[in-house]
Amino acid sequence: MSLKRTKKEAKRKLVGEVSELTPGMTKKFTLSNGKYSVEGMILNYQGSLYAYVNRCPHIGISLDWVDNQFFTIDGRYLMCANHGATFEPATGACIWGPCVGAALQSVALELEGAKIFVQCPRGGDQD
Ligand code: FES
Repeated sequence: MSLKRTKKEAKRKLVGEVSELTPGMTKKFTLSNGKYSVEGMILNYQGSLYAYVNRCPHIGISLDWVDNQFFTIDGRYLMCANHGATFEPATGACIWGPCVGAALQSVALELEGAKIFVQCPRGGDQD
């Protein structure tokens, strides 16, 4: 058995299992391209999975003050805890707050059975 990863495997990272993310749940992950790393989050909104970089378009800092808390209390939107920017979970579009018209950066997801993979930026993950 070879320890070398295939090109496809090098460009994606296993970040969780579908069963971990029931509707309304989120999970954070870290992506690295060897030079830089970035935090992201997967979310289950009304039964569909989405992933975004955990960086608010307003001033480029993490959305969550309380670790892994991204949804508004009613579960309808994602919210930045810093200045209250509010985002559509299915698109990442900011619909209220200081960055209206901007959007969260999406991360490509890939499901393989019960496993959730995200696509790594330029050149793959080095973890
Ligand atoms: S940093 Fe997110 S609203 Fe200001």
